[in-house]
Amino acid sequence: MEFCITSNKGILKQADELLYQVLWQPFGLPRDTRNKFEIIGEEMVFVAVQEDRVIAAFVLINRGKEAEIRHAAVHQELHRSGIGRTLCKMVLDYVKAHGVRKIEVYGRNTAIAFWEKLGFQDESGWLDHDLFIKYGIRFKKMVKIV
Ligand SMILES: CC(C)(COP(=O)(O)OP(=O)(O)OC[C@H]1O[C@@H](n2cnc3c(N)ncnc32)[C@H](O)[C@@H]1OP(=O)(O)O)[C@@H](O)C(=O)NCCC(=O)NCCS
Repeated sequence: MEFCITSNKGILKQADELLYQVLWQPFGLPRDTRNKFEIIGEEMVFVAVQEDRVIAAFVLINRGKEAEIRHAAVHQELHRSGIGRTLCKMVLDYVKAHGVRKIEVYGRNTAIAFWEKLGFQDESGWLDHDLFIKYGIRFKKMVKIV
């Protein structure tokens, strides 16, 4: 298994498909949902690849001193096998080496424990989003000082 930052078009396409399948398709959300969550900053895509297949993707938005993990997904059949932790640590090492002071993520209620294990702390209490509240998905702004 290889963990890397990618700009390869084929890998980026696979990563986009994985994000859709894991994060939005289960709720019947449209294929272009990712576009609705675009924000300003330099986008970097961290992936885990096994036998030419993308099995995890974390999208980082870098804004200099601050950064955000905008999307994070591991293939459904591979949850809880340490892939998310390894990819997240790669993101954290990257931002630390590039002068970022603070990194945040809007963590889903179903994944808060994962972010806590990676050292993120709740900064907001529960936040709701129109698209997700009907599925019982709530968010917390989780922050880590790098
Ligand atoms: C959340 C996600 C990225 C974590 O990746 P993963 O590869 O499954 O996580 P890991 O196996 O590396 O887990 C690291 C630790 O977090 C824990 N953990 C992972 N997901 C968890 C969850 N949903 N709830 C509670 N604990 C979780 C693991 O048990 C492990 O703990 P340990 O070190 O004490 O054994 C992945 O499960 C996923 O894609 N989930 C669906 C999409 C999602 O919720 N994305 C995040 C949106 S904010």
